[in-house]
Amino acid sequence: MAEQKSLYESAFDNNKKWIAEKKSTNKDFFKHLAEGQTPEILYIGCSDSRATAEDLMGAAPGQVFVHRNIANIVGGADLNTLSVIQYAVGHLKVKHVVVCGHYYCGGVKAAMEAHDLGILNPWLRYIRDVYRIHQKELDAIIDQEQRYRRLVELNVQEQCINVIKTAVLQKTFLQTGSPVVHGWVFDVRTGELIDLKIDFEKELKHIREIYDLGFEA
Ligand code: CO
Repeated sequence: MAEQKSLYESAFDNNKKWIAEKKSTNKDFFKHLAEGQTPEILYIGCSDSRATAEDLMGAAPGQVFVHRNIANIVGGADLNTLSVIQYAVGHLKVKHVVVCGHYYCGGVKAAMEAHDLGILNPWLRYIRDVYRIHQKELDAIIDQEQRYRRLVELNVQEQCINVIKTAVLQKTFLQTGSPVVHGWVFDVRTGELIDLKIDFEKELKHIREIYDLGFEA
């Protein structure tokens, strides 16, 4: 029996097959790709290898602008994430911003435990902050796995709020009516995508009571 090649060893062969496959259904596939991008969605998700962005929503190249980091955090001073939001919202004019977390997130789990994780401490502190904001609700959940699942959801909710705090989101939405911010969770165990149904306009109004940056509709 031939030994199975690792992904690393077969990546370039796989690439050749992928090119042929794309061209067989649309011979101008790469010509169109080269013309530019007009993605509909900005997706901010976790780096977890199981929570892929395009795959789980059936998206094709060119449709989704993707940013992934540990535990889908939107930090207020994180130039990386904020630059992605600035470019996708301000320049590419995406219609939707999705923050997508996932159950069984290692980053969220680590933030629930008492460990020193070095450089990860300040990153995971964002999740501990989410816990502190919602401590009453979370501490009332006796079952640890249920509490862990709820923290994943609340983290998505708070990171959506962090997107709404940005100037580019407020300005672009108030002037053009989009993009809308959504919170999703991917269930690694079932493959299901769950919409947390965050009331964007209500959150925006609430956030602007304090984080109003002076933009008018
Ligand atoms: Co994760």
